[in-house]
Amino acid sequence: MRVFITGIAGFLGSHLAERLIAAGHQVAGCDSLIGGELINVPPEAEFYQYDCRDFNAMAKVVKGAELVYHCAATAYEGLSVFAPAMVMDNILTGSVAVFSAAIAGGARRIVFCSSMARYGTNAVPFAESYLPAPQDPYGIAKAAAEQALINLAGTHGIEYAIAVPHNIIGARQKFDDPYRNVASIMANLMLQGRSPYIYGDGEQTRCFSHVEDCLSCLIALGLGTRGLGEVINIGPDEEFVSINHLFRKLKGITGFEGQAIHLKDRPQEVKNAFCSSEKARRLLGYRTTRGLEDGLRDIVAHIRKLGPRKFRYHLDLEIRNARTPRTWTERLM
Ligand SMILES: NC(=O)c1ccc[n+]([C@@H]2O[C@H](COP(=O)([O-])OP(=O)(O)OC[C@H]3O[C@@H](n4cnc5c(N)ncnc54)[C@H](O)[C@@H]3O)[C@@H](O)[C@H]2O)c1
Repeated sequence: MRVFITGIAGFLGSHLAERLIAAGHQVAGCDSLIGGELINVPPEAEFYQYDCRDFNAMAKVVKGAELVYHCAATAYEGLSVFAPAMVMDNILTGSVAVFSAAIAGGARRIVFCSSMARYGTNAVPFAESYLPAPQDPYGIAKAAAEQALINLAGTHGIEYAIAVPHNIIGARQKFDDPYRNVASIMANLMLQGRSPYIYGDGEQTRCFSHVEDCLSCLIALGLGTRGLGEVINIGPDEEFVSINHLFRKLKGITGFEGQAIHLKDRPQEVKNAFCSSEKARRLLGYRTTRGLEDGLRDIVAHIRKLGPRKFRYHLDLEIRNARTPRTWTERLM
């Protein structure tokens, strides 16, 4: 089958491409490289350096793909509060262009990677039956893109699924980007003997999902018959941990002996964010096979292999005020 993956040079998109290629599919994909790296794209994949927001480019390259995975996004939840125009334009305009190009090009199915930012202030664990209540521009854009997909797929009679991955961890996650990926940022700093920063008291809780476990669900949504027309949380619903706990775990793995530096809370940061996995277990046979420790060890091994890196402040802050984290305004990392 010809499969098209947007964001193929990113963490999730590149792992997905590898899996599909190994299963004998013909894989093509695009990436603007705003957040990904060319080195991640499997050599067997057809690669286009295009921005998803460019409908004409998308129409040209997506044409003929039976299945489209839309993984591309500026997935910068915290930054979206201070760069809403960039993040929302990228996610919403880009998603609609990809959906339109896929439908025009004859795709049979679209799998969209949304985010648990769609749930915002809902009670945890987040269930798919909840109405979206996003708390930040990133979540708002993802929720709007979901609505666009539901509408367009219904109108034009194609299959779709909306995957809601949790915080995914594993090798190849970008670790020199100061704007996202808390575990990789911490590990990169600690491997340089530097203290990581924690926003607030560090007691905010998250649930981390190993990329391998996330992939099996995404493949099932793309190639299987279950979960179509559904929103499905992808990831574990065990091992909810605080950011302080994450730091302690990474201390054990990296051998770092210092302390974390606490900064004030980030505005709009959701205190507790984790999902129910009941639907994924029921419809997709989800099982957690790799725990938090495995994912963190993979991150640390990946950074050790490539060597720790300096952080690259590659995106502009649109809003700089007293609420903007100092890690960004003062480039502390
Ligand atoms: N990693 C997580 O924890 C997580 C959790 C929930 C949802 N997601 C979603 O999963 C998807 C993949 O996330 P990831 O962690 O692999 O992120 P990533 O940044 O590693 O990959 C995303 C890729 O999309 C590319 N991209 C961004 N905007 C683009 C555009 N307009 N045109 C073309 N390419 C563009 C980036 O360059 C990057 O390579 C995203 O949609 C994200 O919102 C990720």
